Amino acid sequence: MRKVYIETYGCQMNVADTEVVFSILGREGYIRTEEIGEADVILANTCSIRDNAEQRILGRIGQFNIYRKARPDVIVGILGCMAERMKETLLESGKVDVVAGPDAYRRLPELLAAASQGHPQIDVILSREETYADIAPVRVDKNGVSAFISIMRGCNNVCSYCVVPYTRGAERSRDYHTIVREACDCAERGYKEITLLGQNVDSYHFGEYDFARLLALVAESVPDLRIRFSTSNPQDISDAVIETMATHANICRHIHLPVQSGSDRILEKMRRRYTRAWYLDRVAKIRALMPDCAITTDVIAGFCSETEEDHRDTLDIFEQVGFDAAFMFQYSERPGTLAAKKYPDDVAPDVKTRRLEEIIAVQNRLSLESNRRDVGKTFRVLVEGPSKRNAAELCGRNSQNKMCIWPDTAHRAGDFVDVKVKDCTQATLLCEPA
Ligand code: 5AD
Ligand code: SF4
Repeated sequence: MRKVYIETYGCQMNVADTEVVFSILGREGYIRTEEIGEADVILANTCSIRDNAEQRILGRIGQFNIYRKARPDVIVGILGCMAERMKETLLESGKVDVVAGPDAYRRLPELLAAASQGHPQIDVILSREETYADIAPVRVDKNGVSAFISIMRGCNNVCSYCVVPYTRGAERSRDYHTIVREACDCAERGYKEITLLGQNVDSYHFGEYDFARLLALVAESVPDLRIRFSTSNPQDISDAVIETMATHANICRHIHLPVQSGSDRILEKMRRRYTRAWYLDRVAKIRALMPDCAITTDVIAGFCSETEEDHRDTLDIFEQVGFDAAFMFQYSERPGTLAAKKYPDDVAPDVKTRRLEEIIAVQNRLSLESNRRDVGKTFRVLVEGPSKRNAAELCGRNSQNKMCIWPDTAHRAGDFVDVKVKDCTQATLLCEPA
């Protein structure tokens, strides 16, 4: 029995892919270990979205080499986006035995076997069809409450800053029959929440099903489960999707809608296919149908040629929308992208940092304001487990995806509990049993 250890970096898609990899390797007799020291195969499922992500992982690959030197039969493999982007150069470092891109996981058993014979292996061929639709993921999430279901792979939206279309290839949607089957399987195994995943879920299409229809189908197939999804693209999120959410109580009231910038000039250079006005119109539509829907976002500070005025437009759209939470980044030039080819990365690092800090300061206040508006309200939360700080407290998320904590020793992970918000911090709703 060969033992395999996988470290997963980056987005939820990578977590879902790691579960597919465990399944593929499990069928060939590999068993999972969480102890790197006892692993025969050490894999990193990697992310290329920003340079600092890659640098951190490269450092970690250096550390894997310690185990490989101590036991020469240990195989080190790099999966995911960095495998796809860096290709042979990873093998040339001499620290890696196998390089497998996101569409090559079915071949992993074969690649690992050949590598154990002393022949380094690489497969970074991207597919137009692969969705791993038939593979039942081995869930790595520990509490058995929440599961990811991948509904599509790749991305056709060549945003100029983004490496994803190059690392994950062209967009393809998974057969909805297999998605529903997986959702029902999760329900049977006792999961209480599923998150439908794709780089751009709104462009899902398979046969006569678009994303709105898929969402309704899944919500109706597993009525006792909560449904979440990520990520939406402001250009593509349709009225039908918003209406489907509004008419299904088990679809969570949360939309992650990456704005990236509040400046039309920058949005155009980013090749985002919407304007600020369009974005605000989508927000208005969401709030008209679901006043209690949380809206969260991603933003990039200091994209090529961004001026102070563009930056103020970003701060302004944050104020106008009043996001409930945000992931905020400095622009990081990615080799091979349109922006890297066409536009100089000309915003000075200290200016990027300052602008990012200004956005974070605004968002911190908006998050606190959003949480303060919830004080006095009652929410149904899904228990995740004990809170980090206090064993006599539980934590869990409400439909809006806000973290709640409350004193409770009677319930456990997977229970739904009604709680009333007494107070809050910027990150958490402090509650009591309702
Ligand atoms: N630099 C900084 N942030 C980026 N993102 C994507 N590409 C880059 C880049 N080159 C951010 C976007 C995206 C999130 C997943 O990562 O905000 O929505
Ligand atoms: Fe990147 Fe745009 Fe695709 Fe998102 S939609 S992954 S930002 S190219």
